[in-house]
Amino acid sequence: MKKEKILVTGGTGYIGSHTVVELIEAGYEVEILDNLYNSKIEVLDRIAEITGVKPVFYEVDLKNYDAVAKVFEGGKYDAVMHFAGLKAVGESVEKPLEYYENNIGGTVNLLKCMRVSGVKKLIFSSSATVYGDQGVAKLDETMETGKGITNPYGRTKYMIEEILKDLSISDPEFEICILRYFNPVGAHNSGMLGEDPNGIPNNLMPIVMKVYQGEMPELSIYGDDYDTPDGSCIRDYIHVVDLARGHIAALEHMKSGVKVYNLGSGHGTSVLEMVNVFEKISGKPLSHKIVGRRAGDLGELIADPSLANNDLGWKTELTVEDAVKDTLNYLNHC
Ligand code: NAD
Ligand code: UFG
Repeated sequence: MKKEKILVTGGTGYIGSHTVVELIEAGYEVEILDNLYNSKIEVLDRIAEITGVKPVFYEVDLKNYDAVAKVFEGGKYDAVMHFAGLKAVGESVEKPLEYYENNIGGTVNLLKCMRVSGVKKLIFSSSATVYGDQGVAKLDETMETGKGITNPYGRTKYMIEEILKDLSISDPEFEICILRYFNPVGAHNSGMLGEDPNGIPNNLMPIVMKVYQGEMPELSIYGDDYDTPDGSCIRDYIHVVDLARGHIAALEHMKSGVKVYNLGSGHGTSVLEMVNVFEKISGKPLSHKIVGRRAGDLGELIADPSLANNDLGWKTELTVEDAVKDTLNYLNHC
């Protein structure tokens, strides 16, 4: 049987690189497009070490329509997985135009090239942020999106979802799957791939790692007065390898129109619980202090993953403990 060929935009990034490994291991042929803005070329060698296959790589910026069109010449892909985008919430508030240009402009260029070359299957990396504040902890795909999003990054995800729905109405041959990620954490268990953000991190796990390595003095826990059992915020942390496998399951269940799935575990972990898990597994105390709430944070956000469980036959298998172990292993390797 002919192997399907998948173009992965953002494939040298954190989630994209883990998904490339799962795709290759599942027998797909993969090519990667990335401008290396937030990732390193060495990732390709890491992928090759894990899988024995070094994917074809295009150093291309999605903002450059002509360059993207060249990649698509000949209509050689069966599907596209679209991870490429800017993702720093705080930075998006400082630089909204750059975020709209990169995330929305880049996506529109990609979609135009797909249409021209007859590639009509797309999986898109969205985020639980599109739900805004629903006033309840557990989020499912029937809920209205777009209201109460507090930053331009989140709005780019919402707007791209709407663009994809419009595209699907205009051309029902498109098979589009929108995956709303909860909080991706962890690393590949080989220690070869993990999260390696440029600059000062904003997310919990990368900050915990910096504190552990002595590169930041302590973790500031944003609030212990939320309406949660220990007062700190609760999130649904999903191991990046489970998340990557969710993309393979989605690819195997593509249908015409737009399907939307939450990818999360359905379980919550508080910030204080995360600190405890980390201390237990690393065997070292993690310096931390409680500070005030961070603007825009909600107390509790958990996925209802039933739809993905039922339709895609996918569910998370790895735990927060696995994620911490794998992240520490990654730190020891790099
Ligand atoms: P990442 O920054 O590690 O990977 C994104 C990749 O896209 C990078 O390699 C970057 O160089 C590339 N890129 C950015 N703009 C580009 C452009 N114009 N042209 C070509 N390449 C470009 O991020 P990640 O954590 O792997 O996230 C992947 C996707 O998942 C993003 O769309 C992100 O918004 C989404 N997402 C991430 C999270 C999270 O917490 N990590 C949560 C929800 C959704
Ligand atoms: N936190 C701290 N201290 C820190 C950093 C984070 O206490 O130094 C807490 C936050 O208050 C929050 C939790 O750790 O309760 C997780 O925070 P992250 O910044 O890691 O993640 P968020 O849940 O705020 O946001 C993430 C992604 C967004 C995405 C959103 C979707 O970063 O891109 O999930 O739910 F939109």
